[in-house]
Amino acid sequence: MKENVYSRSADLLDRARKVLAGGVSSEFRKYSYPHPLFYDYGEGSSIYDVDGNRYLDFTLSQGPLILGHSHPAVLKAVEEYSRKGQIFAGQHIRELELAEKLQSLIPSAELMRFCLDGSEAVQTAFRIARAKTGRQKFLRFEGHYHGWMDNVCWGLSAPSADALGSREDPAVFPWSGGISENSRDDFMVLPWNDADLLSAIMAKRYPEIAAIIMEPVMCNNGCIPPVDGFLERVRSICDQYGIALIFDEVITGFRLSLGGAQQYFQVVPDLSIFAKAMGSGYPISVVAGKKEWMKVVEDSTVIHAGTMNAGHAPVAASLATLATLESENPYPRLFAYGRKLMDGLKQAAQETSQNLRVQGMGPMFNCCFTDLQTITDYRDTLTADKSKLNRFIAAMHNERIRIIGRGLWYISAAHTEQEIDHAIEISKKVLAALG
Ligand SMILES: Cc1ncc(COP(=O)(O)O)c(C=O)c1O
Repeated sequence: MKENVYSRSADLLDRARKVLAGGVSSEFRKYSYPHPLFYDYGEGSSIYDVDGNRYLDFTLSQGPLILGHSHPAVLKAVEEYSRKGQIFAGQHIRELELAEKLQSLIPSAELMRFCLDGSEAVQTAFRIARAKTGRQKFLRFEGHYHGWMDNVCWGLSAPSADALGSREDPAVFPWSGGISENSRDDFMVLPWNDADLLSAIMAKRYPEIAAIIMEPVMCNNGCIPPVDGFLERVRSICDQYGIALIFDEVITGFRLSLGGAQQYFQVVPDLSIFAKAMGSGYPISVVAGKKEWMKVVEDSTVIHAGTMNAGHAPVAASLATLATLESENPYPRLFAYGRKLMDGLKQAAQETSQNLRVQGMGPMFNCCFTDLQTITDYRDTLTADKSKLNRFIAAMHNERIRIIGRGLWYISAAHTEQEIDHAIEISKKVLAALG
């Protein structure tokens, strides 16, 4: 009989299921291959499970670890700052330094507030937009992920492309049980990357709309870049109707550039949200925006609070992460390695006659199995062969390459060119055997 190389994890999972609902602390971790695994430690681009298996990690814990696991500068800063206390129910100098740093880096960040995660910061942005405009709804796009709170827990889990119905008035499906039915009234939804449609609908519906929110690259479904001119058109529609343009930069922030997608694409939103890479794995996020929008927080029209906001450890982690990104400037490398890996996967797919489609920006990209040549919106992603993707991810995992289950790859500053070459070699072998 074949030895179970995950036996220690399997035992721990049995134990965990008796105390943690489903054995995990986040829904996404439930669906890991071959079952939720227990990890012991991470270093650079590698992560080790409790059975001693080492993986080349392209999940980066769903994105935050832009410098790789356990970066010494981050750990040192966290340790030093933590020795001076954890949190004060008051201000501290590092929090101010971090805000000043972010203001200097992010084009739209004239004023900001710190939160703990992306989901919370998204809701803060909605509240700001509602208070300033006096309107109630936000417009979101099919397939974009903005956290797991009730009003954004729709529009990202359709059973099929056909089920979505007309593009002008798409059907939406709840992603979870227990969602407040009233939350359906908070938003309207449209397909992404279609500025003509957006413009036509906004001409009629703008009096209801406080904000338009999007991932400036749809990283969570297909890693789809905006089509040429789309972001600029949305910017001008928002200007025309007094709508807040919100960029959810939870993934693109500090990954496409130090100033996020807004700097990369040169389109400046009114409000934006940064999380994940900002804290290298420590719980910190920020909602930032132009003064005219953030004023409602400044004058206490909008209440934003949080006992745990801007503690010493996460602020230290964030300052150290940003300082390292600034001094090392890994961005040319993140793009070069990411694109090399994307090209290598495409080549491997061609050589093995597999319909693997690879697309994205480089520092993050997606792969899926479909006969479509390009994927421009969420509806396209629903045509992909999920079970084949699952088999690919599982086979890569067995070869000790760890990728996010929905086909998303993240490159960190710790990955080396040899590791990229290795991942290409392995993918060739896996694709050839995939059938
Ligand atoms: C684009 C985007 N927005 C918001 C969120 C929610 O962030 P968090 O998981 O930190 O609450 C995520 C998480 O993956 C995300 O990818």
